[in-house]
Amino acid sequence: MDNNDFSSRAGASVGMTADAIRVRGGKPIQGRLKMKGAKNLVTKAMVAALLGQTPSELRSVPEISDVQVVRGLLEVYGVVVESDGDTLRLDPANVERAHETSINAHAGSSRIPILFCGPLLHRLGEAFIPDLGGCHIGDRPIDFHLDVLRNFGAVVDKLPTGIRMSAPEGLHGAKINLPYPSVGATEQVLLTAVMAKGRTELSGAAVEPEIMDLINILQKMGAVISVDTDRTIRIEGVDSLDGYSHTALFDRNEAASWACAALATGGDVFLEGAQQPEMITFLNVFRKAGGAFEVQDDGIRFWHPGGDLKPVVVETDVHPGFMTDWQQPLVVALAKANGISIVHETVYEQRFGFTEALVKMGAYIQIHTECLGSHACRFGQRNYQHSAVIAGPVELHGADITVPDLRGGFSHFVAALTAEGESTIKNVGIIARGYEHFLEKMQTLGVDFEVIG
Ligand code: EPZ
Repeated sequence: MDNNDFSSRAGASVGMTADAIRVRGGKPIQGRLKMKGAKNLVTKAMVAALLGQTPSELRSVPEISDVQVVRGLLEVYGVVVESDGDTLRLDPANVERAHETSINAHAGSSRIPILFCGPLLHRLGEAFIPDLGGCHIGDRPIDFHLDVLRNFGAVVDKLPTGIRMSAPEGLHGAKINLPYPSVGATEQVLLTAVMAKGRTELSGAAVEPEIMDLINILQKMGAVISVDTDRTIRIEGVDSLDGYSHTALFDRNEAASWACAALATGGDVFLEGAQQPEMITFLNVFRKAGGAFEVQDDGIRFWHPGGDLKPVVVETDVHPGFMTDWQQPLVVALAKANGISIVHETVYEQRFGFTEALVKMGAYIQIHTECLGSHACRFGQRNYQHSAVIAGPVELHGADITVPDLRGGFSHFVAALTAEGESTIKNVGIIARGYEHFLEKMQTLGVDFEVIG
């Protein structure tokens, strides 16, 4: 099917159904894309609606499968979810228990179900969580989450099918110190503490913009939350919360992904809705690598201004550091840079698996167990290959690729755009988990591709 046939299906969620595409590389991407709400905020905001006594409205919701998974789970628990364009209306008036089989059927390949625990324990006094999905970028444990919930008074029973929780005495405030500023564990605390009896103090919290936007939502619902400069979050439990009306923060991970694609292909994109404050660290690295950007009131323009791309040394970290989700597409652009670049991944222990496919396409990348960055991290000397050395510039050539995970898959797509010749990309559906209307966007940017499966 060529692009013309494809455009006849443009109204369908083709991004979620196509599973193999053929891409002809070597052409700069050019065009204007609209950024919708952040995948890593919207899914949590939907869970927060469970806590309200009245309906909530969430705007700028992207059409991605992670949202569908959470919608399906909420409906299993009796939440009425209606959508009108990119607005969701969630009515939690009749929340009810659900059967394990229905929960399992809807949990899908997401980690979000673990965040249902607090709200369900508040609403129903019990929760069941099936074994979790999510990208394979490390063993993705949930020990912090379970410790947090026990601190609030939950009784946690591990079953062969998943985890069952109850709160016979209700949930009470807790003093929690996270061993690592985990985004998910911070959200677990927020979604549980807001209606727990008494005060909660969380030290060592994550403060990503998506976390701050979730706090905006909870405060709109009636919660009492403060965030101190030392990343201590304090919550005063309240007896009840109302629904919220909120427009989700833009997806800075998607924005960074397309910006790197423009850099790698010598292109020029305008990302409507992208905002500078949430992307400052990315913008610095983008400029140092030789990219140009222009911040406007309604978005940010990213382009390759010509000349050589420059090598950079990057260390991923929690916010406000360089996000771990940004390094995969950046690595492809660095393969085109004139020199040696280094990326030290300090958030996940196994997040360079995607480089295998890039090496197959001609990239010169070596991954190491040493901490090749400004500070030793948790993974140093533990035999985790979490530092990458990228030598350039190289010319990539097309290859047959199978997408391993969301962000790694996007980097394979960028590599195919950059490569001379044709590439086939299988498992494209994984990319649709986090990038709305992915194939339509490729068409908008003038990518030469066809859906082949
Ligand atoms: C969120 O994952 C995001 N996902 C990830 O984005 C993002 O990369 C990550 O935060 C870091 O910013 C969603 O929000 C759905 P963590 P999360 O808990 O919450 C360890 C994407 O592509 N850890 O901050 O699961 C963990 O193994 C995804 O959009 C424990 O050890 O990340 C990791 O090493 C990928 N025990 C570190 O903490 C726990 O109980 C950070 O994980 C929980 C986490």
